[in-house]
Amino acid sequence: MKKGFNLSIIGTGYVGLTTGVGFAYAGHRVICMDIDKEKVAKINAGETPVYEPGLLEGLRDAKKKNLIEATDDLEYAITNSDITFITVPTPEKKDGSCDLSFVEQVSKDIGRILREKEGYHVVAVKSTVIPETTERVVIPNLEEYSGKIPGEDFGVCVNPEFLREGSALRDFLKPDRIVIGELNTRSGDILEMLHRDFGAPILRTSLKVAEMIKYASNSFLATKISFANEIGNICKRLGIDVYEVMKGLGLDKRISPHFLRAGLGFGGSCFPKDVNALIHKAETLGYEPRLLKEVMKINQRQPYRIIDLLRKRLGSIKGREIAVLGLAFKPDTDDIREAVSIKVVSELLKSGAEVRAYDPKAVFNFRKLFPNITYCESARDALKGSDACLVLTEWPEFRELTDEDFSSMRERIIIEGGKALNPNRVKGFEGICW
Ligand code: UDX
Repeated sequence: MKKGFNLSIIGTGYVGLTTGVGFAYAGHRVICMDIDKEKVAKINAGETPVYEPGLLEGLRDAKKKNLIEATDDLEYAITNSDITFITVPTPEKKDGSCDLSFVEQVSKDIGRILREKEGYHVVAVKSTVIPETTERVVIPNLEEYSGKIPGEDFGVCVNPEFLREGSALRDFLKPDRIVIGELNTRSGDILEMLHRDFGAPILRTSLKVAEMIKYASNSFLATKISFANEIGNICKRLGIDVYEVMKGLGLDKRISPHFLRAGLGFGGSCFPKDVNALIHKAETLGYEPRLLKEVMKINQRQPYRIIDLLRKRLGSIKGREIAVLGLAFKPDTDDIREAVSIKVVSELLKSGAEVRAYDPKAVFNFRKLFPNITYCESARDALKGSDACLVLTEWPEFRELTDEDFSSMRERIIIEGGKALNPNRVKGFEGICW
């Protein structure tokens, strides 16, 4: 018996494809739409355009059950579905604001198709959009291009995602909460029914509050990380380990142990972009967001602390061979967007050092930015003959490295950003915050 809703997902990046595969896994019929014909062909061939644990298997399983397909035909997607999720990108503009051009265009296109469509269709915004976007951009476009009455003839919701790269599918299927911002009760009821089997608390609220929950969540997590790094920088001067300190904080239920890992700062396609967008929005509203600005300043400076420490230990780094272990912005992803490694490698090259880099997944993406550095097949290979080693990403495989692996270095200077190495296997290394 076919169970579930007919869904369309517009935009098949991390969020869109994970949402599509996740809902298909939950038994709903999903049409993924993307203007990128290559991506569409890949998905229909049972391949995922991005590396994400479990996503490939999930896609192939859903295809076998005939619960997912991809198309570049928006009309086909909308007319064959009851609920459409907007998951197009909202990149950062030069001034730090949120670029809504894709959201603007897709809401016009969907509106045009809804003009001819029967039935009560719900449009749910899942892209990360700055507060007021759905009321000021999406709904007016849907109304104007469909000629229909919002709420009465079609529904609108904001349904932010909180998934992390590297654990996206798991986060989608086991969310801490589901937030539904609704234009009216009817829209909210439909989206609540869709999520009824997820077994997570469902928070129903207004469109603008739902948009703000997303930005405030990411900004708070970013603030926790910059706080941990600030404390970490003080601990380094005290000669104590910030992780020991954070263990003490984390036992306090009001603080929780999560997102207190000090290191080189946060990267990725979300935190930097979202905090900057909220800062920009606050300023347009005439408010000076001093805390958020400091969160970004601390984060901007943090990666360079590993270079400062390297200079302190090695002296001039000009002409030195530096092994760089880890390029991805975090483990379990091939994503290098806003990765701290970009800043660190740029600074090393600017200072005349030779870089021997290794990463289990992200070399393909990193080589596009840095074609002229040496890429090694393994961490052990990168260490050979190097004058120093910087560990930038906490890939689990780095915990397997031993003293013997580091004995191939010319000089034994080993500095880690986060906690990546195993002190039971390797002696004589240090961290920027311990
Ligand atoms: C983040 C949010 O976690 C997720 O809810 C949202 O939907 C998208 O943005 P993501 O960017 O994939 O997810 O990665 P996350 O695991 O949150 O890490 C972000 C950055 O913070 C990484 O660079 C990571 O290394 C860093 N980080 C994370 C720390 O430095 N310390 C921590 O304790 C946690």
